[in-house]
Amino acid sequence: MTTSPTTKIAIIGAGTIGLSLTALHLVQNPTCQIAIHDPRPDLQSYITTHLPTYLPQVDKATYQTRISLVSDLSSAVKNATIIQEQGPEETGFKQRIWAQIEGYAPPNALFWSSTSGIPASEQNREMKDKSRLVVVHPYNPPHVMPLLEVVPAPSTSADVVERTLEYWRTLGRTPVVVRKECTGFVANRLAFALFREACSLVAQDVVSVEDLDAIVSASMGPRWSVAGPFKSYHAGGGEGGLKSFMEKIGGTVQACWSASDEDVKREGIEVGNAWQDKICRQANESYGVVDTSTRDETTKKVLNVVGH
Ligand SMILES: NC(=O)c1ccc[n+]([C@@H]2O[C@H](COP(=O)([O-])OP(=O)(O)OC[C@H]3O[C@@H](n4cnc5c(N)ncnc54)[C@H](O)[C@@H]3O)[C@@H](O)[C@H]2O)c1
Ligand SMILES: *[C@@H]1O[C@H](CO)[C@@H](O)[C@H](O)[C@H]1NC(C)=O
Ligand SMILES: *[C@@H]1O[C@H](CO)[C@@H](O)[C@H](O)[C@H]1NC(C)=O
Repeated sequence: MTTSPTTKIAIIGAGTIGLSLTALHLVQNPTCQIAIHDPRPDLQSYITTHLPTYLPQVDKATYQTRISLVSDLSSAVKNATIIQEQGPEETGFKQRIWAQIEGYAPPNALFWSSTSGIPASEQNREMKDKSRLVVVHPYNPPHVMPLLEVVPAPSTSADVVERTLEYWRTLGRTPVVVRKECTGFVANRLAFALFREACSLVAQDVVSVEDLDAIVSASMGPRWSVAGPFKSYHAGGGEGGLKSFMEKIGGTVQACWSASDEDVKREGIEVGNAWQDKICRQANESYGVVDTSTRDETTKKVLNVVGH
């Protein structure tokens, strides 16, 4: 995979994720050219308003020379080396567009879908060559967050996976292969497991929304940016490592797991139940509308310190 001299990237769907990915390619791959295909009527003004806010000062002046808006799908993908899709999260849409793209794109082009949940093995149903498509799931917002979950279908070729990893590594990002297609992939599974417990504890009035956030930001938040849960608890076990940790703390771990299961069942912690209103109201009372640009600037500083 060559990221230079010029990677030609077709961005299919330029909403929240597509625009952030556009910024990411523009900044991290300084020679790439980007064709943007999106039928939204306000595309030009949407890009002009939002894209510069994702770009550092030096790139603001030049970005317009490196992107083109292409209303015709076949022209957008015809010469592309990478085709990255983040249109609507609908299986039918993705199945149709990949079959079309396959017909127009160069034979060696990489096909990436940013989907949060529709596996490549469903998206590729109408493709002739099902080895070409791979899910590359970004963590929002991708121009800030280094993770890309690379999720092949069983039919995806090893070469496609390898070239995908190489591109993102060259850009200094953190692509990680998820070996089996599963609901939510891995990052969201972890985040939503913690989120369920957080909702359950607030629903039971053990803590407030704000205090729960303070607990996370002052403990496992920063810890996990330095070392993930396995390395952390392996370290926590001292010389005996994770094995020793489980021997010493395993009883507490199991007691917490069992209590969670009981609480979640008893409190009816399922999406849409009564607890949800209370928590959403508390979040709004505490935070109103969150300033994401401040959040993102601070996140970048943290990532910088921990070596991303
Ligand atoms: N928002 C997130 O946090 C997040 C995170 C990771 C992945 N994703 C995935 O990214 C994809 C897009 O999500 P989003 O949040 O950016 O949504 P969005 O609604 O902001 O953007 C979708 C874009 O697709 C465009 N579109 C509609 N029809 C199209 C077509 N025929 N061809 C090309 N573009 C078309 C729309 O005009 C819109 O601009 C989804 O598959 C979603 O699962 C979202
Ligand atoms: C695609 O590449 C061909 C051959 O290099 C060139 O003639 C054509 O102008 C290119 N088309 C676009 C849309 O860039
Ligand atoms: C948040 O609270 C404000 C002030 O009470 C209210 O105007 C607004 O509609 C609420 N927003 C949401 C999303 O609940």
